[in-house]
Amino acid sequence: MRSIGLPPPGPRDILRPNSLISRGAFFTDAMGFATRGDMFFSASTKLKLLRAALFKDTPIYVQFFVTARCNLTCTSCNVIYANSDVRECTLDEVKRIADNLAEVGVAIVLLTGGEPFARKDLPEIIREFETRGIHVRMQTNGMATEEQIQRAIEFGGHDISISLDSLWPETQNKRNGGFAGSWEKAVQAMANFTKHLPKDGSFASLGCVLQRDNLTHVEDVIRFGTEIGWFTSFVPIHVTDNLHPMSFRSFDQSLRFKPEEYPKVDAVVERIRQMRKEGYLLYDSDQFLDDVKRFVRDEPTTWRSKHGGVCDSPFLYFAILPNGEFAPCVDHRLGTFATVAGPEFKKLYHDPVFRESVRRKTSACPGCMFGSYPEMTITMRFLAAKLQRTKVFFTSPPKKPWPMTYEQMAGIAERIRNERRDRAGVA
Ligand SMILES: C[S@@+](CC[C@H](N)C(=O)[O-])C[C@H]1O[C@@H](n2cnc3c(N)ncnc32)[C@H](O)[C@@H]1O
Ligand code: SF4
Repeated sequence: MRSIGLPPPGPRDILRPNSLISRGAFFTDAMGFATRGDMFFSASTKLKLLRAALFKDTPIYVQFFVTARCNLTCTSCNVIYANSDVRECTLDEVKRIADNLAEVGVAIVLLTGGEPFARKDLPEIIREFETRGIHVRMQTNGMATEEQIQRAIEFGGHDISISLDSLWPETQNKRNGGFAGSWEKAVQAMANFTKHLPKDGSFASLGCVLQRDNLTHVEDVIRFGTEIGWFTSFVPIHVTDNLHPMSFRSFDQSLRFKPEEYPKVDAVVERIRQMRKEGYLLYDSDQFLDDVKRFVRDEPTTWRSKHGGVCDSPFLYFAILPNGEFAPCVDHRLGTFATVAGPEFKKLYHDPVFRESVRRKTSACPGCMFGSYPEMTITMRFLAAKLQRTKVFFTSPPKKPWPMTYEQMAGIAERIRNERRDRAGVA
């Protein structure tokens, strides 16, 4: 492929290449974003991560679905419907959840949804976690206004992931449910984040879902992200059927990759791996990438193999529904109500009967590739990944060409779109 050895002049000039090479992931979240270990974690967060690596019994990562509401209706998204039957926690309940998460050693909480910015009190929610030493990552579709973004940052949110599946506005807008202008709004939000985030001690990433309609766009998203100083991470589309209902996965069978498309997926995955080696801002691990290929074929993945074919919920991660209910992950509910806001949560979390009820759910699950869960297990349980990630601590963070305006970002996107390249060999 012509493009492999020829990254555009921009990123290599803007960002020191040596500092980017071998920059592996440290953690990625279930919908596809990452957290670099060296960049801005506090000492206490690092200690929690270390404890989890040693004992594999600290829930370092929690996904909190603060709302099921959303201002988009993405074609792949089921979670807004699956969680629409529960109410939202009050801020008081969020405080108690934050207390309890701090008590059980949670290092990172992902605030997601639905659209987290749909909650007016998102800044206050961020503050409740940050003031208790829990690192907050926000995951958004990028529809938020500049004022909302500025407040979220002022209240402590320095870690952001924006979903971006394509540099082609039409593709993105169609995926978003036909909302014209949603691509432009997401790029505007990126510009606003670069305006208000501190350059040091912040992290920004693009979350990209690999689907049938964007395989030829993936390389462009990575190029764009790198030029604006944002990492990119990938998650393959998750689809299920009515016989196996799961909260997160779409029921739309037309979204499944077809067997004749598997080689295209393989080519894209290899291109992603190659671009990471070339110094682009990517953090998906090799094992994760290999498992993506297996996952789209419905073949067993490797990442759960060192834990009896079961994931590490609730030992390393779990999820919280909008009403504060504990959930093993984004796809499964426990069936019995267990609130994370309750005074007895720590006791409950360590209770063998409770853990057995979680295991009953997780052991029946065919497995996922939701970024953070596999990446966290891979990091904690596989030596090769550990070594890969250790390098992260010894490399310097990317130079961010911030602040950037919407016009600058849109201009970069346009240039990348217009470049005549063999797009990952799958055009
Ligand atoms: C459910 S959204 C919630 C946060 C926010 N509204 C957003 O879109 O970023 C989180 C991520 O899940 C991705 N997603 C939605 N449906 C998916 C599916 N069926 N398989 C994999 N990822 C999916 C979205 O593209 C998005 O990046
Ligand atoms: S993927 Fe995000 S933006 Fe799209 S409908 Fe789901 S929650 Fe909303």
